[in-house]
Amino acid sequence: MLTKKMENALNEQVRVEAESSQVYLSMASWAEVKGLEGISLFMYRHSDEERMHMLKLIKYINERGGHAHITTLKAPKKDFVSFQKMFQELYEHEIEVSKCINELVHVSLEEKDYATHNFLQWYVAEQIEEEALARTILDKINLIGNDKGGLYLFDRDVQQITVDSSASQNEV
Ligand code: FEO
Repeated sequence: MLTKKMENALNEQVRVEAESSQVYLSMASWAEVKGLEGISLFMYRHSDEERMHMLKLIKYINERGGHAHITTLKAPKKDFVSFQKMFQELYEHEIEVSKCINELVHVSLEEKDYATHNFLQWYVAEQIEEEALARTILDKINLIGNDKGGLYLFDRDVQQITVDSSASQNEV
């Protein structure tokens, strides 16, 4: 059974993951309209992943005798200036999500809820992977600079990055 404090903290993370999914959905739509097909596909998939993170939490809260809350979400922004800035925002967003996960882990220890602490380790590992992925992408973007040919290749390759990372997740 979850303590009320633990349940509330987990519910807060349900909202964070749901909002993340919306943020990436908005990025996907922006990229699609701009003709950045590969980037758009990457963002649609990333949005789906965040929804999966949310669902995993919902199932866990309800399994442990709590009640997962589905709440109003903050609307993400619609415009992203440039794809470079968009990926920078993705990276910063993931750093914020990591902080939220760390805070959750902290609450689980305070509450002496070792089952939840164990459950959260999946999210800790996931955040390491997501931050690393975002950094890899930013490094590639820096290499491209303003080269149009580079952008073409990046847009093509970013799909592959997604495929590779989802393949490695399936192995886990
Ligand atoms: Fe669910 Fe990208 O953190």
